[in-house]
Amino acid sequence: MSVKTIQWTGSAVRIIDQTLLPGRLKYIDCHDVETLWRAIRTLQVRGAPALGVAAAFGVLLGAKKFKGDDPARFASFVLRLCDFIGASRPTAVNLFNALNQMRGLILKNPRLPVAIMKAVIEAEAIAIFEEDKAVCRAMGRHGAALIRNGGTYMTVCNAGALATADYGTALGVFYAAKEAGKKFKVFALETRPLLQGARLTAWELRKNRIDVTLICDNMAATVMKGQKIDGIFTGADRIASNGDAANKIGTYMLAVLAKHHDVPFYVVAPKTTFDLKIRSGGEIPIEERSQDEVTSFGARPTAPKGIKVFNPAFDVTPAGLITGIVTEYGVIRRPNRKRVYQALSFSKKG
Ligand code: MRU
Repeated sequence: MSVKTIQWTGSAVRIIDQTLLPGRLKYIDCHDVETLWRAIRTLQVRGAPALGVAAAFGVLLGAKKFKGDDPARFASFVLRLCDFIGASRPTAVNLFNALNQMRGLILKNPRLPVAIMKAVIEAEAIAIFEEDKAVCRAMGRHGAALIRNGGTYMTVCNAGALATADYGTALGVFYAAKEAGKKFKVFALETRPLLQGARLTAWELRKNRIDVTLICDNMAATVMKGQKIDGIFTGADRIASNGDAANKIGTYMLAVLAKHHDVPFYVVAPKTTFDLKIRSGGEIPIEERSQDEVTSFGARPTAPKGIKVFNPAFDVTPAGLITGIVTEYGVIRRPNRKRVYQALSFSKKG
């Protein structure tokens, strides 16, 4: 892909400031962990796999700045860093999986010299970044088989290159289908309140010459009723061991509509988005964000001052509404706990 969502420069984490898209494509360098933490919190960098990579690079950034050569002090410094980064956003489990990988390095090698541990952390962060790129391509290949030449599809939020190290999850399926020579159309939901669909997916798909039409979230039912939709493809922020999947608010609504209109509903997500420690979606922590995101449109207030607001950033789609979860290992059809475990145990690290 032509855009580089996140990069390690050797001394900073370079990200696209996604809050400025589609108006401006601006890269910013985070030279310290606090700046990166704010970038995560304010969605300058966002999307579950990209958050995993950002967390790994964040630990590397902080670790590089450690002065001294006492392994024990270094270890507790890095563990505190992991806790700090983990407090940025609660739902995307990729972020916590990456942090746990970093914690694991420290806990396994408590006595290695600091300089060596810094190199080990750097190698691991880069491996997490490279692995995300590779698994996105693999998901794209598996998902592309589900795209019909001449078909029409729907997506919500942004599960593209901007949400990953490269290529994307749900949008990666569209890219791979296009590369395979298929022609198809995509409806992108705008995704209130922060408009990741309008600002990011519409921008990204158009840039990559996919036939995309933008609709407001509340037009999805009308579009599904009015014309044949061949499938819905979304990303996920955390998938429970039974296949329940949390994704951007509005995804559950789409899955309910898909069932009513007999439209296949696919979630596209790598192994790093699964949380096998939890049994169902009810255990997924759902981020609630500031009420200002709902009471304004851009800078303009659109609701009475002081109005009560409920602003959950994600919802949970029950596994029963999911036709299949596209992973790097293949498609888990009609997901349930048994099928999730079976599919993920084919993994190298599983
Ligand atoms: O709040 P965001 O923009 O981080 O939400 C992102 C999503 O909900 C994506 O669909 C999800 O992270 C999957 S990204 C491949």
